[in-house]
Amino acid sequence: MSDNLVEFIKKRKEELNAVIMAHFYQRPEIQDLADMVGDSLQLARYAANTDASVIVFCGVNFMAESAKILSPEKLVIMPEPEAGCPMADMITGEELREWKKAHPRAQVVCYVNSSAEVKAESDICCTSSNAIQVVNSIPSDCQILFVPDQNLGHFLARKTGRQIECWPGYCPTHHNVTAEEIREQKARHPEAIVLVHPECRPEVIDLADEALSTGGILKYVEKSPAREFIIGTEMGLLHQLQTRFPDKVFHIAHEEFICPNMKLNTLENLARVMDTLENRIEVPEDVRVRAYRSLERMLNIS
Ligand code: 13P
Ligand code: SF4
Repeated sequence: MSDNLVEFIKKRKEELNAVIMAHFYQRPEIQDLADMVGDSLQLARYAANTDASVIVFCGVNFMAESAKILSPEKLVIMPEPEAGCPMADMITGEELREWKKAHPRAQVVCYVNSSAEVKAESDICCTSSNAIQVVNSIPSDCQILFVPDQNLGHFLARKTGRQIECWPGYCPTHHNVTAEEIREQKARHPEAIVLVHPECRPEVIDLADEALSTGGILKYVEKSPAREFIIGTEMGLLHQLQTRFPDKVFHIAHEEFICPNMKLNTLENLARVMDTLENRIEVPEDVRVRAYRSLERMLNIS
């Protein structure tokens, strides 16, 4: 059955001149089928430059929306339209407008995990791979408002020494991990290097050797002579880690470390959307143009 689906998806991809893009948190069978698997920054860059006619985005809504903002002439579709990011939904454009009124001279840095409307209200976007460079690009006499992830915001404040006001959003999947769990894992695997995502709580990051984006974790493991790692991010990344580094050992930091939204995409709904071309991503042009500026400014500095 799944062989038939894979064959159908490949055939439709040729017919449509489509490209399948997938985030590292996607199910292994989707990662294996994709033309491009990456972190948020790699996917945004790829979407901006692809010459395919159709982008089939296997990730969550804000990622597909960023692809549409960067490549408006392309048809961008998602297997499952309900695959959203709860953290991105923790701030609206209206809330950000109100916050900006209280800080009229501040610059707004928005994590790419945000709606098109929030990007449109922001000065510059960042992902977890380039957030430090983005913050460092803001003039030092400028106050920074950071939305929506408080954990990434606190991490950036500590890394850059800048004063950053953080919106109180968080990723339910990463915020769930406790310092106690990391201590237990370290006690069980004392030789292991601990790599966590900066969406984790500050006290979790304190116990890690490094806090890195998903792409950053892969690069770190590639360069490291270490054999054993404790991984503090969504389990989907294990598929890439185990495939690329079969001689190394990976322990997940938290049981059921799963983003339920990322897992809504399946081979079945991927095949269906490639058949019907439903679930199209649309962004109103006035919002898109302003959101594009925030994304473009980010892509130009990193
Ligand atoms: P990356 O940019 O590190 O892939 O992270 C995306 C994300 O949603 C993390 O929860
Ligand atoms: Fe959003 Fe968290 Fe899922 Fe990433 S892991 S898409 S931040 S809910």
